[in-house]
Parts: sequence; C-alpha cells; structure tokens
Amino acid sequence: MSLLIKNGNIITATDNYIGDIYIEDGIIKEIGINLNKDSYKTIDAKGKIVIPGGIDVHTHLNLDVGIAVANDDFYTGTIAAACGGTTTIVDHMGFGPKGCNLKHQVDVYHEYAKEKAVIDYSFHGVIQHINDDILNEMESIVNNEGIPSFKVYLTYDYKLEDEEVLKVLKRLKELGGITTVHCENHGSIKFLKDYYINNNLKSPKYHPLSRPVEVEGEAVNRMINLAKIVDDAPLYIVHLSSEIGLNYIKTAHEKGENVYAETCPQYLVLDDSKYEIENNEGLKYIMSPPLRKQRDIDALWKGINDGHIKTIATDHCPFAFNKDKQLGKDDFTKCPNGAPGIEERIPLIFSEGVMKNRISINKFVEVCCTNPAKIFGMYPKKGTIQVGSDGDITIIDPNIEKILKAEELHSNVDYTPYEGIKVKGYPIYTILRGEIIAKDNNFIGKKGYGEFIKRKSKI
Ligand code: URP
Ligand code: ZN
Ligand code: ZN
Repeated sequence: MSLLIKNGNIITATDNYIGDIYIEDGIIKEIGINLNKDSYKTIDAKGKIVIPGGIDVHTHLNLDVGIAVANDDFYTGTIAAACGGTTTIVDHMGFGPKGCNLKHQVDVYHEYAKEKAVIDYSFHGVIQHINDDILNEMESIVNNEGIPSFKVYLTYDYKLEDEEVLKVLKRLKELGGITTVHCENHGSIKFLKDYYINNNLKSPKYHPLSRPVEVEGEAVNRMINLAKIVDDAPLYIVHLSSEIGLNYIKTAHEKGENVYAETCPQYLVLDDSKYEIENNEGLKYIMSPPLRKQRDIDALWKGINDGHIKTIATDHCPFAFNKDKQLGKDDFTKCPNGAPGIEERIPLIFSEGVMKNRISINKFVEVCCTNPAKIFGMYPKKGTIQVGSDGDITIIDPNIEKILKAEELHSNVDYTPYEGIKVKGYPIYTILRGEIIAKDNNFIGKKGYGEFIKRKSKI
C-alpha cells in the first residue's frame, strides 16, 4: 500500500516547508517537491498543516482505581486519540495485586491492548514496592520487554519512601531508563484532607485547597534533589501544574541537571474556578494535581516556550460524571481522580497555543510529537517527518472552527472538561503507518491495527 500527501505545509520541530510525502509499506520513503508516484491513494494537503502523528505519553486506559474503572479501554480510548490526531500513546499501567512482580502488569496490559488498540502503543511500568527481586527484574522489563520507563508515586496507596525512590532512580539510570514521578507531598495532603473533612467542608472546591501548589513544589524539589544524589539520574516529572514546581525545575536546568517536565492541556486552559460550578459540576475537574490559577497557567506557557517543559500529554483518565464521579457528591475525597482529554489535546494546543501566538508551530510539534518520542525511546521511528520514519502523519485544517462538545467526541465518557471551548484548527486526517485511520472526525481504521512499540533505553 502507498500514500502520497501533496503540497502540505510540512512542520517538524525544526523545519517548516511546503512539500510532498510519499509513504510505502508504512514507512516514509521520499519527501520532495512535485513527487510523481503511482500511489494507491493521494491526499491534496494544499493550505493544510502536516505534522508528525501526535504522541501522548500519559494515558490511563482500563485503569482500575478500586472504586471505579476508567471508562475507556484500548479500543474506545485509542479511537478517541486517533480522531484527535494522536497516533501513539504510552499508557501508565495501573497497580496490580499487592506484592506482584513487574511482569504481572506487563502481561495484564498486553492482554488489554492486543487486538483492540487502533493506534500504536507502549506502556510505562509501575513500581508499587521495592526489594531486590524487583530491582533485578527491572533489567528484563527494560531490555527484553522494551519498557524503559517506570512511574513512581509519592502519594496514593502505593507511594514510595525516599529511600525506595533512590533505589529506583539509581537502577533505572544503570539500565539506561528513566523514572517518571507523580510529585505531591503525601503528608500535607493527608493533613489538609483531614482538616476539611473534620470541619464538614466536603464540596469539590476543597479538593484544590487540600492540594495547594506547595504540595507539588515540595515534591518536585525533593525529587530533583534525590535524582542528584544518585549521580543525576534521569527524572521525568509528570503532569506539572504549578509555577512553584516549574521554578524548581528551572533552577535544576540552570545547574545542568537531567530533569524533564510534562504538563497537560487542563493546566494550560482551565483554572480552579471550575470547582465552584453549581450542581457539583466541580466533580468533573477532580484530578491530581488540581487545576490552578491564571498565574500558574501563564507560567506554564512560558515554561514551554523557555524549554523547561518538554512535553504536553493528557493524563487521560475518564470517569463518568453521572456515575463514577458521583461517588464524591457528598465528600470530595471519595471521588475518583482523573479527567478525559485524549482527543482534545492536539486541537486545544494548536488553537490555544499556536493560533493564539503563545507558542510557535515548531514548538507545538516539539512538545506534542518529537520530545515525547525522544525522551521515551521511540525517535526517529516516531515523532518526526523524515525518510525512514513511520508514516505517522496528522493533517490539520487551520481554518476549521469548532466548539468542543462531549457528544461529538469519541471517548466512552459522558463529559469533556473542555465543553463549549471554541477551537480554531482541527485534524482532518490521522494517518498511522501509511493507513488513514481517521478522517473529518470519523474513525475509519481497524480494531487491532495498533502495534506495541518496543522502546529503546539510553536516552
Ligand atoms: O488525577 C489523576 N491525575 N488521575 C490519574 C492518575 C495519576 O495520578 O496520574
Ligand atoms: Zn499521577
Ligand atoms: Zn496520570
């Protein structure tokens, strides 16, 4: 099969030019001007923006949090991703049974994804306890399974102590992998949650008050210092939400330290006034860390421009507002944490970032496609447009204006946190390894077409 994309505005993290792209057998074979190919299919991309397929390195499909299960599986979730211009995800595995080894969850997640995923995928490992067996087993997960990144949590049920985090950082550095961390100070959250609940302050607006920016700042700073102690081990901070956290990262970068930061559309587009909406609508926005203030939003956009924030991922974790989220209707601490966004990321960042001149179009590609591939061992197979790379392409029509509405999105959930936001520019084609899998907001790919990507270590 072959595909020729003609006359598009081709955008990479560094370049911007008009040209044609020829894809054969799933791989970009030629890029040029006036290519004459006997292709099976041709797309006229004149006036359109042609970028590498989006890469979302933070999703939670099938996530079971005990009180609820995320509403998207690897079929519905990846359909939504495809319709929003994303061609690859790296999903964060959920916790397994207490005491299980690392391979246990790897097997569970392969079972979840195979024959279902419609886009390419990988997983981040999860560390829920540490002992010599786990540290030894990491080698085969990194080298044999092709999973060189793991997430550790500083809060929630399986939070690790500092000594355990040091062991993970050190081991992953030895193996050429990277530690990703959920940075929130557990003791402060517990203290504040207890205070609000004991004083009968239980509505959604107390969720952000129980997790103020200092909760994130302390944990980010601690992680940077812990990584430094173990020979500057590579560190990736997920879902950064605050200026205070960003400032610690900037200081680390000024000292040349090996720390990467990710933020998410919700922290760039929404603020904490959402928790005050009537009828408990604030439950829709219960996620950790919580939404912040305009000052943090402005700082995060600047952090992206200044290169301190390297990626934008979604933390897609959809719980139904009319069912799962209602568990928190009388007590915000009982609400499952997380919100959808896998489909909205590329349109939102293109519209709010590029169209509103907050970031350049090259920066958009860098943070949504190229850096995620580089940091997580998929580059240059994924994340760029060059000869030899996979034929993963998203074509955006910059003239489409659309109002985001849950009923027109594809996630298996009953709301979008971005309901009513007007976006300018929308993906019209999503192409994975040369196959058109979504067109004009419709999924036209095949169940199970997605392939597991064995990722490389040594970033
Ligand atoms: O509230 C959130 N972010 N839920 C998903 C799990 C996590 O911490 O990333
Ligand atoms: Zn997290
Ligand atoms: Zn997450």
